[in-house]
Amino acid sequence: MGTGRFVDLIHKKRDGGILEKEEIQKMIQSFTAGKIPDYQMSAMLMAIYFRGMTDEELTALTLAMRDSGDVVDLSPIDGITVDKHSTGGVGDKTTLIVAPIVAACGVPVAKMSGRGLGFTGGTLDKLQSIPGFRVELAEEEFFRAVCQTGLSVIGQSGNLAPADKLLYALRDVTGTVSSIPLIASSIMSKKLAAGSDKILLDVTTGSGAFIKEMEGSRELARRMVAIGRGAGKETVAMITSMEEPLGYAIGNSLEVKEAIETLQGEGPEDVKEVCLALAGMMISLGKEIPFEEGKERAERALQQKAAYEKLKEMTACQGGDVRYIENPKLFRRAGISGCVLAPEDGYLAKTNTEGIGVAAGLLGAGRETKESSIDFGAGIYMKKKLGDKVKKGEALAELFTSQESRLEKAARYMENCMEIRKQKPGMPKLIVDIIR
Ligand code: URA
Repeated sequence: MGTGRFVDLIHKKRDGGILEKEEIQKMIQSFTAGKIPDYQMSAMLMAIYFRGMTDEELTALTLAMRDSGDVVDLSPIDGITVDKHSTGGVGDKTTLIVAPIVAACGVPVAKMSGRGLGFTGGTLDKLQSIPGFRVELAEEEFFRAVCQTGLSVIGQSGNLAPADKLLYALRDVTGTVSSIPLIASSIMSKKLAAGSDKILLDVTTGSGAFIKEMEGSRELARRMVAIGRGAGKETVAMITSMEEPLGYAIGNSLEVKEAIETLQGEGPEDVKEVCLALAGMMISLGKEIPFEEGKERAERALQQKAAYEKLKEMTACQGGDVRYIENPKLFRRAGISGCVLAPEDGYLAKTNTEGIGVAAGLLGAGRETKESSIDFGAGIYMKKKLGDKVKKGEALAELFTSQESRLEKAARYMENCMEIRKQKPGMPKLIVDIIR
């Protein structure tokens, strides 16, 4: 590190220099060990924010972050393991559908998922709306579950990429969250530490995505794929539309119910299309077959209900009440409901999808603070999708909550999230691009 003074490294990055691999490794080790104060690391993050990073710097940063904690060894599991990560969305229940499809096709899924973040929902919270479902399994139990049933979805272990946890907390309060290299290294450090052989990234784009502009989503996808390549793991990114909520249901048990219905052969067309593409790609990676063949296998697993059976097996194995999977009507929506109505005749032309996610949070479907609990039955059921014809006074969405005071506030918020126009809008492509 030259002089050994961290301030000189800050100067270097600030002035547009390229950091050496060893400098980056030492920076992350020292920061994780508490030897670099937050104010200096904040300055470095801001320098990275403005100056960016080369692919080589980014790979070195991500690998150093991965190595700051435990790296899971999935080698006891037979076959090529494939992980999937979504950069987040509204109504995104894809893991609940894709993981069972992929497992039913013989590709093991050993997945660590997260909780809701901001306006986006989290797979762990959704799974916990199945009574009894345990997301905290000991390592041996997790491995046994994957070997027995072909899949398990659990919470991230406490010591996975601790450098990311520390860096994210700083980014959150220093205006440096929205840096593409910092987002890419944050996501990939955790994915690489989770130990799967190959990685599929679902990079969402549009008004309900973390990054809303296509150009930014494409850049994020490209940077993450480059990190995967630099780390020696085949990584593919699929850019998918989050221009409107995926499916009709937003909120934990509402989404689980919609996911089960999809696995039972019903379910919304957009959910099916995105899930078959994601599952097809994971199967293609795991079985080393062309994508189209992967998609055909995924479709068969869905049609023949093999994937539905897998979800039942996983639920039983993780202590969940399988009766809910057999009869999704058992999931109770929260008892207080109301509708948002169309103010005029026309077509549903545009949604502020992030706003719809916020409204679901206001109803109780998300956490207001880290400690607050979730109302699993709270959320939104969209009655119309983009391009649907609507009549004045017709319901656009139905809202569910357990607290009267939340309904009014969320309904007012939702009213501004849906735009009616006289002209039928062009429809967004769901699978926008694939980056290898
Ligand atoms: N998700 C992450 O894990 N990290 C980021 O920086 C942004 C989204």
